Amino acid sequence: MIYLDNAATTFPKPANVRRAMNNAAANYSANPGRGGHTLAIRASEEIYKCRSKAAEFFGEDNPENVIFTLNCTHAVNIVIKGLLKPGDHVVVSDLEHNAVMRPLFAMGKQNVTYTVAKVSNTSADETLNNFREALQSNTKLVICTHVSNVWGIKLPIERITAMCHQYGIPVMIDAAQSAGIQKINIRENNFDFVCMPGHKGLYGPMGTGMLITPHHNKLETFMEGGTGSDSAHFEQPDTSPDKFESGTPNLIGIAGLSAGIDFVKSITTEKILTHEVNLLAYLYDRLSTNRNIVLYTPRPTPQTSGGVLSFNVKDTDSEEVASYLNKRGSIAVRAGLHCSPQAHRHFGTEEIGAVRIAPSYFTTMGEMNALAQILTKI
Ligand code: ALA
Repeated sequence: MIYLDNAATTFPKPANVRRAMNNAAANYSANPGRGGHTLAIRASEEIYKCRSKAAEFFGEDNPENVIFTLNCTHAVNIVIKGLLKPGDHVVVSDLEHNAVMRPLFAMGKQNVTYTVAKVSNTSADETLNNFREALQSNTKLVICTHVSNVWGIKLPIERITAMCHQYGIPVMIDAAQSAGIQKINIRENNFDFVCMPGHKGLYGPMGTGMLITPHHNKLETFMEGGTGSDSAHFEQPDTSPDKFESGTPNLIGIAGLSAGIDFVKSITTEKILTHEVNLLAYLYDRLSTNRNIVLYTPRPTPQTSGGVLSFNVKDTDSEEVASYLNKRGSIAVRAGLHCSPQAHRHFGTEEIGAVRIAPSYFTTMGEMNALAQILTKI
């Protein structure tokens, strides 16, 4: 099997991640923060270790500003539902995933409205301008994906954040496809809310994610419960991370995520990005000589792209192509709408979707070659 669906989740997970999860399950899988015994303390320490590591990795000074979540969607919901009030307006890019669009749409029932800002395929200046023009006097949040999960287009999040801060508006970044692959430094860029999965570019297991924010005091909770702290009171603790982490945490997953961050650090995001973009640029060159293939975005570069490239085979439904690749070539790709109908409207592919190629650090040039080869026969 050639696995090229790493934008959905990275596979395989590195050996150190699997070892860390086995070790947690076998040796200290007690409930962290819920007891004073040796194993519970060991479990709490592991969670704190991962929190500190994640804070350092993403340039955040305070580990308590790292909130563990189930996935990136969970983190996005904490921000959207915790921050917005009736009458508020939001600006989103036209490349957002349903992880953003569905909670935002649901907030419409509470009279929260939104405007979509178009992302330029080639000009960061134009993108920035479109965001600026979409702002209104009641805009309370700007949301933008860092890298499109369909097209791999990278948004100028540093410039968008700086521009929004001139108007006093916070920005939420959906780093679903970029965490671990692109450099993200929270304090250096004054990022407000960064949402990410643990199981994609950070190579941790599914069921892990993070919201990193110095502004958690601005967020209401939509879920309350036991935290192991301040247990005498029914009132939810008001301090991060307990405020947002009710219920037993995913200790084994977090142990894996911690090892995933170690894995990424040992290689560096720069090397991972270069590796993935090199593979995709090679594939792009091969596909651009194939008259049956439709490419949508410019040739990938580390400055403008993440590790994703999508295409179609003329007017063929993308699911049909993915099924052919799976059956004939044992190649795993994702097709269809990738939970991002809005991103498909950007290039007019909402009818047939697109075939998405998403390598990881483990993908080889030989695998890209095999894909290009089978596509010449399609
Ligand atoms: N959001 C993930 C993807 O794009 C699951 O495939």
